[in-house]
Amino acid sequence: MAAEAPTIPLLTPYKLGKYNLSHRVVLAPMTRLGSYGNVPQPHAILYYSQRTSKGGFLIAEVTGVSDTAQEYPNTPGIWTKEQVEAWKPIVDAVHAKGGIFFCQIWHVGRVSNQDFQPNRQAPISSTDKPMTPIDGSQPTPPRRLRTDEIPQIVNDFRVAARNAIEAGFDGVEIHGANGYLVDQFMKDGVNDRTDQYGGFLENRCRFALEVVESVANEIGADKVGIKLSPFADYMEFGDSNPKALGLYMAESLNKYGILYCHMVEPRMKSADEIVESPHSLLPMRKAFRGTFLVVGGYNREDGNNAIAENRADLVVYGRPFLANPDLPRRFELNAPLNKHNEETFYTFDPVIGYTDYPFLEDSA
Ligand SMILES: Cc1cc2nc3c(=O)[nH]c(=O)nc-3n(C[C@H](O)[C@H](O)[C@H](O)COP(=O)(O)O)c2cc1C
Repeated sequence: MAAEAPTIPLLTPYKLGKYNLSHRVVLAPMTRLGSYGNVPQPHAILYYSQRTSKGGFLIAEVTGVSDTAQEYPNTPGIWTKEQVEAWKPIVDAVHAKGGIFFCQIWHVGRVSNQDFQPNRQAPISSTDKPMTPIDGSQPTPPRRLRTDEIPQIVNDFRVAARNAIEAGFDGVEIHGANGYLVDQFMKDGVNDRTDQYGGFLENRCRFALEVVESVANEIGADKVGIKLSPFADYMEFGDSNPKALGLYMAESLNKYGILYCHMVEPRMKSADEIVESPHSLLPMRKAFRGTFLVVGGYNREDGNNAIAENRADLVVYGRPFLANPDLPRRFELNAPLNKHNEETFYTFDPVIGYTDYPFLEDSA
């Protein structure tokens, strides 16, 4: 009698709200700077459909909520009719292959330069503290948002979420991680406000929660996720008590009943550098009552362990999925993985390093 194949935890089904996922290997949001003039391009159809499997869950790259939301050139937006129309064939291609597709909506805040701002104005933020230039970037000193301007930015997220649904997306992920505008409010390393959006933890999280509430009211809480990175502190956006911040957010999100919370592992010292960390996301996993997604440095083995040990419901893969369009299949077969090439992450090319990573059959 043939022995039964052992179950692979990452490849077990999961019910994400109303969606029946066939496995738990999620495509991470990854900006690739190929959306010329902030408009999604046809080459993204192939990129996303290559990474779609029936019943797979995909999160699209960061997508700007307004004309002040941009940092990098060629990131897509979702505030104009043209952008919404341009997303439609990309979303359709993912749906045609049976994928579930969320749009990650963001505002960069002070991580910007006046060259990417309307009328070359200063980028907006929770603060007017400038960032130290790193890696050759030249951030323009930000302008601190007045209290009475904040509802307009919350509204930009709401409208962007509505536009994402109009484009056909199944839901949105609010980008509250990695030092961008939402994070610039949450973290006390950046937020130096004295109004109701600064100071105590509750005040610093107010903006994030207002965005969550507004987006959930607009499109339904069952279509909303949020990405958070309480422990990350590169780009001068650390917090003095990341565990308290992560826990407060996890507990507060329960009030809105949103679909999922996606958290970056404390071991991610920067966007791509992995270090040993004494911290864990377990307290937040236990506190949050929706679906819990983890990301950051996962491979097949520790992704399987995270599911088997109930530390997460879904595991998000960035670089491995970028380089392996058929990642769930490779995990199923325990096949070798293509190595990602960092040099082609952000080269604007519609093919090289974008849609030319081979499938398993191609390399056989
Ligand atoms: C090329 C590239 C672009 C990225 N762009 C985004 C992004 O648009 N939004 C986001 O939240 N994270 C972004 N990230 C971070 C990934 O979503 C993920 O959190 C990170 O790569 C860690 O996961 P990994 O170790 O599996 O790669 C990006 C990462 C890479 C490599």
